[in-house]
Amino acid sequence: MKKEIRHVIKADQFTKESLEEIFILADDMVANPDKYSESLKKKIVATLFYEPSTRTRLSFETAALQLGAGLISTENAGTASSEVKGETIKDTIEVTAGYADAIVMRHPNVDSAEIAARVSSVPILNAGSGSGEHPTQALLDVYTIKQVKEDLNNLKVAVSGDLKHGRTIHSLIKLLSLYDNTTIYGLSRAFFRLPQKYIDYLIESEAKYIPVSQFEELPNDLDILYHTRTQLERFKNEATGVIDEYIINNDVMKSFSNQTYVMHPLPRVKEISEDFDNDPRAIYIKQAHNGVPIRKALLLKSINHSY
Ligand code: NCD
Repeated sequence: MKKEIRHVIKADQFTKESLEEIFILADDMVANPDKYSESLKKKIVATLFYEPSTRTRLSFETAALQLGAGLISTENAGTASSEVKGETIKDTIEVTAGYADAIVMRHPNVDSAEIAARVSSVPILNAGSGSGEHPTQALLDVYTIKQVKEDLNNLKVAVSGDLKHGRTIHSLIKLLSLYDNTTIYGLSRAFFRLPQKYIDYLIESEAKYIPVSQFEELPNDLDILYHTRTQLERFKNEATGVIDEYIINNDVMKSFSNQTYVMHPLPRVKEISEDFDNDPRAIYIKQAHNGVPIRKALLLKSINHSY
């Protein structure tokens, strides 16, 4: 019988148990890197990026190389692949699947990962689908939260900035809602509010959602403050007026406990002041580094059909 292909498309495909399995494997990969250095020997991973990326592409490629896989890559697929000539996602994926054992794809279309998975004969790993989802980022985010908080139940997490277009937030809140007694605060200006479908998802998952408009409305004992960049590239044609962004700095963070950790998927522009970088509560660099073990675990599990 043909084995089912193990794609990574959306955050809601994961359960608490499957996340735990991935975290255990990622921990083991950190502790015993040599054990896995040939796990994907003779396999080839393709990275197809139709949008800019630093961390996601480089950490996926580091992950593949650390597992002994070879890489084929189009860094600027939006301008340097046959999409420019009018090729569809379907054709690109069907062809690339004949060259590689897994395809990591970032694309501006919110449905891109699903479209790719429908036609691919090898696993698709969604590295960001427009303003929709970014599931592998959410996994490394929850892995990072677990490292600082240990217990993923009873968390109070604020997501802030561009909740409307921020795909990292959309995937993260879905994963957090798997745990007991989760409260999500959404800090944003009116235009950037969390879309209703994600609020409905949280309510259905029995997580609490509390929209706020100022840092002062957040509890002092907040566990995580997850800030994001305004996704300017997503709403070029909509009138928004002046964007009054929330800036996290030492002053703002004085009102939070010494256990309120600040995360950000990066890149940041100016929404977290560099002055805050040396505060022990600033964990965004650690978070970015966690992309490697998590993506190693995901690549290995996808290619070995072992979710
Ligand atoms: C994010 C993305 O691409 O969605 N970056 C990332 O993958 N770490 C966030 C962003 O671009 O603002």
